[in-house]
Amino acid sequence: MKNKRIAIIGAGPSGLAQIRAFESAKKQGKEIPEIVCFEKQANWGGMWNYTWRTGVGKFGEPIHGSMYKYLWSNGPKECLEFSDYSFDEHFKKPISSYPPRPVLFDYIQGRINKSNARDYIRFNTTLRWLTFNEETEKFTLFLDDLKNNKTYEEKFDYVVVATGHFSTPNMPFFEGIDDFPGAVMHAHDFRGADQFIDKDLLLIGSSYSAEDIGVQSYKHGAKSVTLSYRSNPIGLSWPEGIEERPLVTHFEGNTAFFKDGTSKRFDAVVMCTGYQHKFPFLPSYLRLKTENNLYPDHLYKGIFFQTQPKLIYLGMQDQYYTFNMFDTQAWLSRDYMMGEFELPSKEEQRKDIDLWLEKYSKVDDPKEDVDFQADYIKDLIQMTDYPEFNVDKVGEMFKQWLQDKEDNILTYRDKTFRSVVTGTMAAEHHTEWMDELDDSLERYLMKEEKTKETVLS
Ligand SMILES: Cc1cc2nc3c(=O)[nH]c(=O)nc-3n(C[C@H](O)[C@H](O)[C@H](O)COP(=O)(O)OP(=O)(O)OC[C@H]3O[C@@H](n4cnc5c(N)ncnc54)[C@H](O)[C@@H]3O)c2cc1C
Ligand SMILES: NC(=O)c1ccc[n+]([C@@H]2O[C@H](COP(=O)([O-])OP(=O)(O)OC[C@H]3O[C@@H](n4cnc5c(N)ncnc54)[C@H](OP(=O)(O)O)[C@@H]3O)[C@@H](O)[C@H]2O)c1
Repeated sequence: MKNKRIAIIGAGPSGLAQIRAFESAKKQGKEIPEIVCFEKQANWGGMWNYTWRTGVGKFGEPIHGSMYKYLWSNGPKECLEFSDYSFDEHFKKPISSYPPRPVLFDYIQGRINKSNARDYIRFNTTLRWLTFNEETEKFTLFLDDLKNNKTYEEKFDYVVVATGHFSTPNMPFFEGIDDFPGAVMHAHDFRGADQFIDKDLLLIGSSYSAEDIGVQSYKHGAKSVTLSYRSNPIGLSWPEGIEERPLVTHFEGNTAFFKDGTSKRFDAVVMCTGYQHKFPFLPSYLRLKTENNLYPDHLYKGIFFQTQPKLIYLGMQDQYYTFNMFDTQAWLSRDYMMGEFELPSKEEQRKDIDLWLEKYSKVDDPKEDVDFQADYIKDLIQMTDYPEFNVDKVGEMFKQWLQDKEDNILTYRDKTFRSVVTGTMAAEHHTEWMDELDDSLERYLMKEEKTKETVLS
């Protein structure tokens, strides 16, 4: 085992889950392979590692982060809790169900700080390219040490791609947008709604980014928010100041024209039009090519790339379940890399993928999406020793979350849920979400009396 070398690309929640999975085997006294994780950013946490930068970073690399200031979890934290590291263990007291980004970042780090995980990671290192040699059955990785401006190559037996898929914008063109005089950006480059105070804002798209950036902009004082949908409206009962219109047909100056014949003048446009799965470091025959969906084709068990199963993909699905799903995937891929889980024949793999794709083709609403992803996770869990958690109960919480959003998009983050890991009921946050303009960890963990003092002084 010691002679085997494993490369993990990316130290976001998926890559860290892979490290944690190996660490957990080590704790059980097993000999683990040599692991090297390459992370192009200076720190771990992936998306959760906020950056103010857009475009390129200090070393000229495309910025990975798509998260922004004032981003609060868009699902209950009880739905993503690690089953081997609870929120209670980390925060030592019950916290609310919808924490802001810095709180979840702190939680992610808490688990990984308990081990020597940092020792496995080479930060500021980008994977530029890789090749696979059929004879030696080894990958050669071409790496770029950004700090020292030095390239080098290394050989590995397995490669785990954990580079995420919400980083490379899908940026459509609309006639006249090139002459739009205001700001035009993709959600990937949005860093907070302060810039839209008193502005008329147009968001194109009808999924999570559109919903969340729209609601945040409304909360922080935009004059109006218009969401423009291609297929279906989000369809919530919006407060006055937020509305939905069909797709933009074209722009003339500041004015956008919509499919229903209406038009409106805007100060800024944000494309909330999703992301591309992008793997510029892989030759095309090893690249996963997929849209954002719950079961990308060509991945056995959603993980093992059919053409070359020594190439493993984590977290490539669209996500209801997140951290706990990445964990179950990482535990199973660890078992495979340690020779404890055998892949069936290519034909059997294909049959299994087809069964899942067939099942997925029948899914047609968000509640069924949740059930589908729950079934996927249950399938993984029974094959490995990731600590069991009540996946169906979490599914019920997701369905309640969907209902809460429908009931009131401005108050759903004030609701509380019970942990399936510890049984603890979440605390109510000291301030209602609509009134909470500070998303810092310090403010979040402040005692209620203290927040009153802050307001009075
Ligand atoms: C705006 C936004 C909000 C979100 N909000 C939530 C939320 O509230 N709750 C939730 O559960 N999920 C949320 N998500 C989903 C989020 O993507 C997951 O929670 C999680 O971050 C995915 O983890 P990952 O490790 O798969 O990918 P990422 O977090 O994207 O991490 C990938 C890592 O790979 C590194 N990398 C990329 N390319 C290379 C390379 N060539 N070489 C070396 N390193 C590389 C990156 O620097 C990064 O650190 C949100 C996503 C977005 C975009
Ligand atoms: N606070 C938070 O926690 C938060 C905030 C934002 C995002 N997120 C996360 O970020 C991830 C990505 O969400 P996302 O909303 O960016 O992407 P997404 O879910 O993939 O949705 C993409 C949207 O873009 C639309 N679209 C694509 N191409 C278009 C075109 N040419 N013209 C018009 N519309 C087009 C799609 O419309 P169709 O329906 O027509 O395909 C869809 O509405 C999710 O996991 C989400 O949970 C979380």
